[in-house]
Formats: sequence, C-alpha cells, structure tokens
Amino acid sequence: MYLNPFANTWTCGSSASPAVEEFHRRLPEYNSTPLVSLPDLARDLGLGHVFVKDESFRFGLPAFKILGASWAVYRAVAAKVELPQTCPLDELSVSANTRDITLVTCTDGNWGRAVARMAKYLRIPAIVFVPHNMDQATKEKIASEGARVSVVSGDYDESVKAARKEAETSSGLLVMDTSWPGYEEIPKWVVEGYSTMLTETDRQVQEQTGKQATCAIASVGVGSFAQSVAMHYKSRAPSATVVTVEPETAACLKSSLEAGRIISIETGDTIMCGMNCGTVSSIAWPILRDGIDASMAISDAESHKSVRYLHALGVQAGPCGAGPLSALKRLCETHELGLGSESIVVLFSTEGSRSYSVP
Ligand SMILES: Cc1ncc(COP(=O)(O)O)c(C=O)c1O
Repeated sequence: MYLNPFANTWTCGSSASPAVEEFHRRLPEYNSTPLVSLPDLARDLGLGHVFVKDESFRFGLPAFKILGASWAVYRAVAAKVELPQTCPLDELSVSANTRDITLVTCTDGNWGRAVARMAKYLRIPAIVFVPHNMDQATKEKIASEGARVSVVSGDYDESVKAARKEAETSSGLLVMDTSWPGYEEIPKWVVEGYSTMLTETDRQVQEQTGKQATCAIASVGVGSFAQSVAMHYKSRAPSATVVTVEPETAACLKSSLEAGRIISIETGDTIMCGMNCGTVSSIAWPILRDGIDASMAISDAESHKSVRYLHALGVQAGPCGAGPLSALKRLCETHELGLGSESIVVLFSTEGSRSYSVP
C-alpha cells in the first residue's frame, strides 16, 4: 500500500458545474443509480456505514463510463460544429452529419462501448481500437452499438497509439478518456462527466445518514475516474479520505506514486479488464499525486472474492466494481487511515456483473 499523509490536508480548488448533471438528465435513457447500504459489512469491519454506489445499470449500459463519454462527446462535437453547449442532441446530430464527423477512440472495454453509444445517439460513425487480448463478447458489445472495432497487435497503450494515428490521418474526432501533454481538453470533459455520480452520491448519503461520506474508494485504469473522485471529495469542507485500487498486473498509478513521476508499465492479463492500463492520464497525475490518501493493488483472487460477497448481498458488481471492497477490507485489516465507528465509506462499483475466467 502506498500512503500519502499529506493528502489529508490537501484541498482542490475546483469542482464540476451543475450543467453536467442537467445535461445527463436530458439524455434519452437517463437514470440515477442506487446507493446500497451494507450494514452487516459495516458492523463486521467496525465502521459506521458502508455504501456501494452501484453503476451496473447506467443509461442502459452496464458501467459508469457513459457519464464521461456522453458529456465529452457532446462538448467536443458541439465545439467542432460551433454550436453552444446548451444545444439539443437532435440539433447537434444534424450539424455533425453535415460536417461528416467520425468519432475515434480506443478502449479496454466499457469506454469504447459508451463512445459508440453516443455516436449512435448522434447518428455518426465511430471507430474503436481495442487491444489484442480483448474477449470476443466485449468486442461484440461495442460493435452492437454500430461502431467499427479494430483490433491492434498490442496492449491498451498500443491501442492508444493506433487511435491517435487514425485521428491524425483521417481527421476523425479523437475522444479519449486519457490525456497526454497537448491532448487535455476532451479528457477534462470526461472527468467532469463523472461528477454526476458523485453529486448523486452526496444526496443519497445525506438522505440515508443525514451526514457526508468520510471515505471514498475508487478503481483506477488511467486514473480519470479517480481524478474526478479526488477533485470532488477534496474540494469539500470537511474533505473526505480518498483511496484508489488497481489490479496487481496494471498498477500504473501506484508505481508512479512510488516513483514520484508518471511511469509507464507493462500490463498483464487481469479479470479487472477495464482497469488494465499502463499509463496514468497526464491531467489526472497532479491531482492523484497530491490528493490520494492511499493507493493499493489487489489480485484477481481478491477481486473475485469481493464479487461473490457482493452478489450474495444482491449487488451485481463485476470484477472492477468489486475492487474497492477488497481495498476496504485490506485497509481495515492493516488499521491504516484510522477508519472506525464514525466512518461513512462509499465504494464505487463501476460496472455490473459479467462473465470472466474465475482465478
Ligand atoms: C468498469 C471500470 N472501472 C474502472 C475503470 C477505471 O477508470 P479510469 O480509466 O478512468 O481510471 C474503468 C475504465 O475503463 C472501467 O471500465
């Protein structure tokens, strides 16, 4: 576990605009997701409350990514066709078609399907690059949204290169949930898009406890979601503890935190495929470096155990979604971060149940 004792007092100046949630409420399949209380787990761990924010059904898709993809695609296409960020989707669709806009992206799963869904809403084409080891079912789900799926001969980082090259040569609109120097505006909108989940959670925690969450645990692929979580909980007073979790085989954030700078790592296979990324997003890095209280890496076996635990309680989490529970258990075993009977912990379960090879 990597601990940053200074994150406790670090504050982040900016939080997302209410326009983001207003936009999401206007989407065709809008829904708020449930916040499920786990009182038995809270009692067993000696905590005040443990909640799971269950993203297994978000705007008709089995993961949270559509929150970021929808806002980012909407903003990026509107900017390209020079329409205001308040214009209706139908109007945006007409302009995007007149200008022959094609969306280009890459994914290790949920992101690509979410971008493809937005392309479908706007009735424009999308090309999605995927790593060589993506399973057939995931590829089919992306293609079922109407996108062209192109398999690269390497891992996720190779698919990023392929998407960049395609966008450069075909003048497609590159919509990515990770950033690098020179490509930062669209990923910033992605991060803003995730804030709807956090404002919903605030209201739900308040309704159920009359208080605010004191600790939030987020899963990490490239770190965009964790960036949104850290910005949200560290811009509030009092701030909450923010913890991240990654697969042992793709712990790019933990490795970077230990090194004190962004380092790219080689990734292996994991059942937590949405989190199988080798490089932290450049705009996420300064926020995560300063604002994450604890970063940890878990094994596939730990994730699988948490999947089973959550399923038994009726929460249909997938392996990425269950990761934060494994992290919480480890925090309680090691007595790190001083969690106790006053703690109100939120575990973000970012995806619904799906098939995987049991480790
Ligand atoms: C289900 C799931 N959880 C977590 C993540 C991690 O999000 P990020 O890449 O923004 O760190 C992803 C990314 O694709 C995902 O699909």
